[in-house]
Amino acid sequence: MTKAPTMRPFTRHVLVCTGSSCDPDARGQQLFSKMGDLLGDLRKLRNPCRVKRSTIPCLGICTGGPIIAVYPEGIWYHHVDDALLERIVEEHLKNDTPVEDAIFYLTRDPMLANCEQPEDTTTLPDETDDAATVTATEGIQQTDEDREKRREIRRNRTKRGLVLVNTGDGKGKTTASLGVILRMLGRKKRVALVQFLKHESGQWGEIRGLAQLGLDATKTGDGWTWTSKDLDESQSKALHGWEIAKEKITSGDFDLVVLDEFTYLMDFGWLDTMEVLNWLEEHKPEELNLIITGRNAPQEIIDYADTVTSMTKLKHAYDAGIPARAGIEF
Ligand code: FES
Repeated sequence: MTKAPTMRPFTRHVLVCTGSSCDPDARGQQLFSKMGDLLGDLRKLRNPCRVKRSTIPCLGICTGGPIIAVYPEGIWYHHVDDALLERIVEEHLKNDTPVEDAIFYLTRDPMLANCEQPEDTTTLPDETDDAATVTATEGIQQTDEDREKRREIRRNRTKRGLVLVNTGDGKGKTTASLGVILRMLGRKKRVALVQFLKHESGQWGEIRGLAQLGLDATKTGDGWTWTSKDLDESQSKALHGWEIAKEKITSGDFDLVVLDEFTYLMDFGWLDTMEVLNWLEEHKPEELNLIITGRNAPQEIIDYADTVTSMTKLKHAYDAGIPARAGIEF
């Protein structure tokens, strides 16, 4: 039998397109050389964390070059110049944080919930699937436990959207959801935000910014309820907001609907939690992602969600008499 070749260990393999079709200036070869300098010890053959580099005459898309593809994550970067190359090496290859703003393709994109997945994936090779969901180190140094966990993730993968809840008394519940909105818009997904207690005429900087990126934002409140002069009015506006939210949820027009400060409607007794849950279970499209924010999330909503985060206040400037600031709080 022919003896198998031996290979030095490595954690990542970087492919650099040196073709001139996607980059008439053919800068791929220069980038390849420069990457070697930037990698330092990560270039050394005996380093088990070595980054293996290869040039390739064409990656088969011939546009947007110079192009660099990083495996096992399957992340493809476009229009790579010297500055971006330095970021890719420093942030991604050395610190395991991909340069999100320069990625144009992810071989295994966890957000591609609409991809059809085989029902039974147990015969798929472990090392290639789900690679984008983990760091390269995790991808290479897999234990049996890691492999079983990944098989389990594949088995559970369906087109089902996720339900996230951001609750707790700390700052950041809405802000965290805005981060997910930005992420979704960056992936050309359709997003609706319904803000239940924000005044309908409010002009929040972050919402205006996201609206420019395509966010469908609706404010349905009259400001914070503890400053409301007419609680009946607050309640009816909030309940009207729930009707709007139901339309967004069932419309089929969105990949993500965010119900901001929605928990208060249940906490204040304006909506019955079980009625809300029953409605969601019956009407929310299976593939729709949903985020609910607000303090005191009812246990039933927590049980219904896939991911629940509780923000905890350790300290807040407001307690020291420092009022809310533009750009920090709103
Ligand atoms: S020449 Fe770069 S992808 Fe074809």
